[in-house]
Amino acid sequence: MKYLNMRNIGMYTLAIMFSTMLFFSTSSCTQNKKTESFLSLKNGIGTDFLIGVAVNTNETSGLDTLGAALIARQFNSIVPENCMKCAEIHPEENRFSWESADQYVDFGVKHHMFIIGHCLIWHSQLAPWFCVDSIGRDVSPSVLKQRMKFHISTIVSRYKGRVKGWDVVNEALLDDGSYRNSKFYQILGEEFIPYAFKCAHEADPQAELYYNDYSLFLPSKQQGVLHIVKSIRDYGAMITGIGMQSHFTMDGPSISQVQTAIDTLSSTGCKLMITEFDLSVLPFPNDINGAGIEQTEKYSIQYNPYTKSLPDSIEQVWSTHMKDYFDLYRSNKSKIERVTIWGLTDKSSWRNDWPILGRTDYPTLFNRDYTAKQFTKTLMR
Ligand code: XIL
Repeated sequence: MKYLNMRNIGMYTLAIMFSTMLFFSTSSCTQNKKTESFLSLKNGIGTDFLIGVAVNTNETSGLDTLGAALIARQFNSIVPENCMKCAEIHPEENRFSWESADQYVDFGVKHHMFIIGHCLIWHSQLAPWFCVDSIGRDVSPSVLKQRMKFHISTIVSRYKGRVKGWDVVNEALLDDGSYRNSKFYQILGEEFIPYAFKCAHEADPQAELYYNDYSLFLPSKQQGVLHIVKSIRDYGAMITGIGMQSHFTMDGPSISQVQTAIDTLSSTGCKLMITEFDLSVLPFPNDINGAGIEQTEKYSIQYNPYTKSLPDSIEQVWSTHMKDYFDLYRSNKSKIERVTIWGLTDKSSWRNDWPILGRTDYPTLFNRDYTAKQFTKTLMR
C-alpha cells in the first residue's frame, strides 16, 4: 500500500511537471507567434517616414478580407490605385462616380492613415469627354479651364480634411525634360500645371499638393521638374512636394542616380515622396523606358521566366537591391516624407501586366499568399 502510494505520488508529481513544461513550451510558442504577427512595417521603417501602399477596390471594399487586414496592420498611408482617376471618378461631364472613392477614403479614416488622392490631372486614364466637345473637337482654353476647375474643386472639396495630400498633376514631362504633348498641353500650354495647383489649393488650403512623375533619376527630367516648380510659384500657386514614382527594374537606376535626384529635387524646398515603388524581377523590353502605361510590348515566353516560383538566387539579388534602396531612403529621411509601395502583394501588382500582359512578377513586399518576404521582415519591428 505504502509502495503504491509512493508510486502514485511519484506519477502525480511527474504528471504535474510534464504538464507545466507543456504549458510553458506552448505558451512561449504562442508568444513567439504572437510577437511575429504584431511585427509591422509601420512600427519599423514607418517611424522614419510614412510607409504607404497603393490599394485596389477589392481591398478597400472588404471583398479581399486578407488584403484589407494586412494593409491595416502594416501601413500608415494609402493611395488609390485606380478609383480616383478621371475616367473612373468622373466618367461623364455631369456625372461623378463616388462609390469606390468614398469606400477608399472611409477605409483610410477608419484605420487612421495618411490618405493620398491620386491623381487629379493626367493624360492617361482620362475620361474621353474631358478635352473635347460633343463632336470630338478640342475645347477652347477657357472651356478646358472651367472643366478642370469643376473636376478638381468637386473632388478635392468632397474629401477636404480627410485626403491629406493630392497628386495634382501626374507625368507631364518627357524624359528629355520637355513637356509631354498631352491634350492639356496642346490646349493650355504650360499654364495647365500651375492652374491645376491653384484650383486644388483653393478647394482645400490645408492639403499637401504634389507633382508626380517617373524616371526622375534622369538629370534632364529633374531640370523639367525644377522648371515646373518655379512656374507654379511664379503663378502665385502652391506646391508642397514632388513624387518620384520609382518603378524600378533589376538594372537600375543606381543608388547614386537616385541620390542625385534627391539632392537636386530637394533643393526646391519641396518635400520628396517615393510614391510608386516596386522592383520588377522580370526582363524589361529594351525599347521601353520609364513607366508610361501606354507603352506596351507583346508577350513572349522568354520575357516570363518565373511562372512557377522565384528561384532563391534571384530573390537574393532582389533583396539586395531593395535593401540598398531602403538604406538610401533611410539615410535621406530628413528629405523624404513618405515611401509608398505600388501594390500590396505580388499577386495584385500591376507589374504582372505592364509593360507586357500576363506575366508572373515579384515586385512588392508581400508574397502571393499575403506572407511577408524575408527582406520585408527586416523592415518590421
Ligand atoms: C496603374 C495601375 O496600377 C493599373 O492598375 C492601371 O491599369 C494602370 O495604371 N503611374 C501611375 C499609376 O501614376 O497611376 C499607374 O497605375 C502606374 C504608373
